Amino acid sequence: MNKLTTAMFTALAISITVATPVSAHQGATGIVKERMDQMDIMKKSMKSMSAMFKGKTAYDAEAVRQHSRTIAKHSDTTLTKLFPEDSLQHASEAKPVIWQKWDKFEFLSAELKRISEALENSADVRESDSSEAAMSMTMDTAMMTETAASDTADSLFRELADTCSSCHTTFRKKKK
Ligand code: HEC
Repeated sequence: MNKLTTAMFTALAISITVATPVSAHQGATGIVKERMDQMDIMKKSMKSMSAMFKGKTAYDAEAVRQHSRTIAKHSDTTLTKLFPEDSLQHASEAKPVIWQKWDKFEFLSAELKRISEALENSADVRESDSSEAAMSMTMDTAMMTETAASDTADSLFRELADTCSSCHTTFRKKKK
Protein backbone atom coordinates (compact mmCIF):
# COMPACT_ATOMS: atom_id res chain seq x y z
CA MET A 1 0.00 0.00 0.00
CA ASN A 2 1.50 3.38 -0.88
CA LYS A 3 1.40 6.32 1.46
CA LEU A 4 -1.52 8.06 -0.21
CA THR A 5 -3.74 4.98 -0.10
CA THR A 6 -2.87 4.41 3.54
CA ALA A 7 -3.78 8.00 4.34
CA MET A 8 -7.10 7.64 2.51
CA PHE A 9 -7.96 4.48 4.39
CA THR A 10 -7.09 6.13 7.68
CA ALA A 11 -9.28 9.12 6.86
CA LEU A 12 -12.12 6.81 5.88
CA ALA A 13 -11.77 4.80 9.08
CA ILE A 14 -11.90 7.98 11.16
CA SER A 15 -14.96 9.33 9.40
CA ILE A 16 -16.77 6.02 9.86
CA THR A 17 -15.90 5.93 13.56
CA VAL A 18 -17.11 9.48 14.06
CA ALA A 19 -20.30 9.05 12.03
CA THR A 20 -21.51 5.72 13.44
CA PRO A 21 -23.19 6.67 16.73
CA VAL A 22 -25.24 9.44 15.18
CA SER A 23 -25.78 8.25 11.61
CA ALA A 24 -29.52 7.67 12.06
CA HIS A 25 -30.29 11.37 12.30
CA GLN A 26 -27.20 13.00 10.83
CA GLY A 27 -25.69 14.32 14.03
CA ALA A 28 -28.74 14.72 16.23
CA THR A 29 -28.22 14.28 19.96
CA GLY A 30 -30.08 15.03 23.18
CA ILE A 31 -33.62 16.31 22.99
CA VAL A 32 -33.48 16.74 19.20
CA LYS A 33 -32.64 13.08 18.79
CA GLU A 34 -35.32 12.15 21.30
CA ARG A 35 -38.07 13.96 19.40
CA MET A 36 -36.84 12.58 16.07
CA ASP A 37 -37.03 9.06 17.51
CA GLN A 38 -40.55 9.68 18.77
CA MET A 39 -41.60 11.08 15.40
CA ASP A 40 -40.16 7.97 13.75
CA ILE A 41 -42.24 5.75 16.03
CA MET A 42 -45.37 7.65 14.93
CA LYS A 43 -44.29 7.34 11.32
CA LYS A 44 -44.09 3.54 11.64
CA SER A 45 -47.61 3.42 13.07
CA MET A 46 -48.93 5.69 10.31
CA LYS A 47 -47.28 3.50 7.68
CA SER A 48 -48.82 0.27 9.00
CA MET A 49 -52.24 1.89 9.21
CA SER A 50 -51.93 3.44 5.78
CA ALA A 51 -51.30 0.00 4.26
CA MET A 52 -54.47 -1.29 5.94
CA PHE A 53 -56.65 1.64 4.90
CA LYS A 54 -55.40 1.33 1.33
CA GLY A 55 -56.23 -2.37 1.38
CA LYS A 56 -52.62 -3.44 0.85
CA THR A 57 -52.71 -5.44 4.07
CA ALA A 58 -55.69 -7.01 5.86
CA TYR A 59 -57.63 -4.57 8.03
CA ASP A 60 -57.11 -5.33 11.71
CA ALA A 61 -59.14 -3.09 14.03
CA GLU A 62 -57.14 -4.16 17.08
CA ALA A 63 -53.87 -3.16 15.38
CA VAL A 64 -55.42 0.20 14.42
CA ARG A 65 -56.40 0.74 18.06
CA GLN A 66 -52.85 -0.02 19.18
CA HIS A 67 -51.28 2.30 16.61
CA SER A 68 -53.75 5.02 17.57
CA ARG A 69 -52.76 4.64 21.21
CA THR A 70 -49.08 4.86 20.24
CA ILE A 71 -49.72 8.16 18.49
CA ALA A 72 -51.92 9.49 21.29
CA LYS A 73 -49.18 8.66 23.77
CA HIS A 74 -46.59 10.65 21.82
CA SER A 75 -48.78 13.68 21.13
CA ASP A 76 -50.10 16.72 22.98
CA THR A 77 -47.78 17.90 25.81
CA THR A 78 -45.56 14.81 25.47
CA LEU A 79 -44.68 16.17 22.03
CA THR A 80 -44.55 19.87 22.83
CA LYS A 81 -42.31 19.45 25.84
CA LEU A 82 -39.64 18.03 23.49
CA PHE A 83 -39.48 21.47 21.90
CA PRO A 84 -37.96 23.80 24.52
CA GLU A 85 -37.48 27.33 23.27
CA ASP A 86 -34.84 27.72 20.56
CA SER A 87 -33.81 24.06 20.59
CA LEU A 88 -32.51 24.11 17.04
CA GLN A 89 -29.11 22.54 17.57
CA HIS A 90 -27.69 19.39 15.99
CA ALA A 91 -29.21 18.64 12.62
CA SER A 92 -32.65 19.72 13.75
CA GLU A 93 -35.15 20.33 10.99
CA ALA A 94 -37.39 22.37 13.25
CA LYS A 95 -38.10 25.98 12.25
CA PRO A 96 -37.73 28.90 14.68
CA VAL A 97 -41.32 29.92 13.83
CA ILE A 98 -42.42 27.19 16.31
CA TRP A 99 -41.76 29.58 19.18
CA GLN A 100 -43.39 32.53 17.43
CA LYS A 101 -46.55 30.54 16.72
CA TRP A 102 -46.46 28.38 19.82
CA ASP A 103 -50.27 28.42 20.16
CA LYS A 104 -50.68 26.88 16.75
CA PHE A 105 -47.94 24.34 17.47
CA GLU A 106 -49.66 23.32 20.71
CA PHE A 107 -53.04 23.21 18.99
CA LEU A 108 -51.82 20.83 16.26
CA SER A 109 -50.18 18.64 18.85
CA ALA A 110 -53.41 18.50 20.87
CA GLU A 111 -55.34 17.75 17.66
CA LEU A 112 -53.08 14.78 17.10
CA LYS A 113 -54.18 13.40 20.44
CA ARG A 114 -57.87 14.16 19.92
CA ILE A 115 -57.99 12.56 16.47
CA SER A 116 -55.91 9.50 17.40
CA GLU A 117 -58.23 8.86 20.35
CA ALA A 118 -61.25 9.22 18.08
CA LEU A 119 -59.65 6.76 15.66
CA GLU A 120 -59.08 4.31 18.49
CA ASN A 121 -62.78 4.52 19.36
CA SER A 122 -63.96 4.20 15.75
CA ALA A 123 -61.53 1.53 14.54
CA ASP A 124 -64.47 -0.79 13.82
CA VAL A 125 -66.41 1.75 11.75
CA ARG A 126 -65.24 1.46 8.17
CA GLU A 127 -66.29 3.75 5.38
CA SER A 128 -67.50 0.87 3.21
CA ASP A 129 -69.91 -0.20 5.98
CA SER A 130 -71.72 3.11 5.82
CA SER A 131 -71.69 3.44 2.04
CA GLU A 132 -71.83 0.01 0.41
CA ALA A 133 -72.51 1.47 -3.00
CA ALA A 134 -69.76 4.09 -2.87
CA MET A 135 -67.83 2.37 -5.64
CA SER A 136 -70.70 2.62 -8.10
CA MET A 137 -71.58 6.22 -7.28
CA THR A 138 -70.54 9.16 -9.31
CA MET A 139 -67.48 10.95 -8.00
CA ASP A 140 -69.51 13.89 -6.68
CA THR A 141 -71.90 11.74 -4.72
CA ALA A 142 -69.08 9.64 -3.33
CA MET A 143 -67.29 12.74 -2.13
CA MET A 144 -70.43 14.08 -0.46
CA THR A 145 -70.90 10.75 1.30
CA GLU A 146 -67.32 10.86 2.44
CA THR A 147 -67.74 14.30 3.97
CA ALA A 148 -70.91 13.25 5.75
CA ALA A 149 -69.28 10.14 7.22
CA SER A 150 -66.74 12.14 9.15
CA ASP A 151 -66.42 9.72 12.04
CA THR A 152 -65.41 6.60 10.16
CA ALA A 153 -61.98 5.12 10.84
CA ASP A 154 -61.05 5.96 7.23
CA SER A 155 -61.86 9.64 7.48
CA LEU A 156 -60.25 9.94 10.91
CA PHE A 157 -57.10 8.35 9.55
CA ARG A 158 -57.01 10.93 6.75
CA GLU A 159 -57.55 13.70 9.30
CA LEU A 160 -54.67 12.33 11.36
CA ALA A 161 -52.34 12.24 8.36
CA ASP A 162 -53.40 15.81 7.49
CA THR A 163 -52.46 16.92 11.01
CA CYS A 164 -48.94 15.49 10.66
CA SER A 165 -48.53 17.19 7.27
CA SER A 166 -49.99 20.48 8.35
CA CYS A 167 -47.57 20.76 11.26
CA HIS A 168 -44.63 19.76 9.07
CA THR A 169 -45.57 22.27 6.38
CA THR A 170 -45.43 25.15 8.83
CA PHE A 171 -42.85 24.03 11.34
CA ARG A 172 -40.37 21.67 9.68
CA LYS A 173 -37.74 22.50 7.10
CA LYS A 174 -38.00 20.61 3.83
CA LYS A 175 -35.59 17.70 3.52
CA LYS A 176 -32.89 18.33 1.00
C1 HEC B 1 -47.14 19.84 16.37
C2 HEC B 1 -46.33 19.64 15.19
C3 HEC B 1 -46.07 18.26 14.66
C4 HEC B 1 -46.98 17.24 14.52
C5 HEC B 1 -48.46 17.25 14.84
C6 HEC B 1 -46.25 16.14 13.94
N1 HEC B 1 -44.93 16.47 13.74
FE1 HEC B 1 -43.48 15.30 12.96
N2 HEC B 1 -42.13 16.80 13.19
C7 HEC B 1 -42.40 18.06 13.67
C8 HEC B 1 -41.17 18.85 13.70
C9 HEC B 1 -41.05 20.29 14.15
C10 HEC B 1 -40.15 18.01 13.22
C11 HEC B 1 -38.65 18.35 13.09
C12 HEC B 1 -37.95 18.02 14.42
C13 HEC B 1 -36.47 18.31 14.38
O1 HEC B 1 -35.83 17.99 13.37
O2 HEC B 1 -35.96 18.89 15.37
C14 HEC B 1 -40.79 16.73 12.90
C15 HEC B 1 -40.12 15.63 12.37
C16 HEC B 1 -40.73 14.45 11.97
C17 HEC B 1 -40.03 13.34 11.36
C18 HEC B 1 -38.54 13.27 11.04
C19 HEC B 1 -37.80 12.68 12.21
C20 HEC B 1 -36.32 12.47 11.91
O3 HEC B 1 -35.86 11.34 12.08
O4 HEC B 1 -35.65 13.43 11.52
C21 HEC B 1 -40.96 12.37 11.11
C22 HEC B 1 -40.73 11.01 10.46
C23 HEC B 1 -42.25 12.85 11.60
N3 HEC B 1 -42.06 14.13 12.11
C24 HEC B 1 -43.42 12.15 11.55
C25 HEC B 1 -44.65 12.61 12.05
C26 HEC B 1 -45.90 11.88 11.98
C27 HEC B 1 -46.08 10.52 11.33
C28 HEC B 1 -46.85 12.66 12.56
C29 HEC B 1 -48.31 12.40 12.72
C30 HEC B 1 -48.72 11.15 13.35
C31 HEC B 1 -46.19 13.88 13.00
N4 HEC B 1 -44.86 13.81 12.68
C32 HEC B 1 -46.83 14.92 13.64
C33 HEC B 1 -43.62 18.51 14.09
C34 HEC B 1 -44.80 17.78 14.15
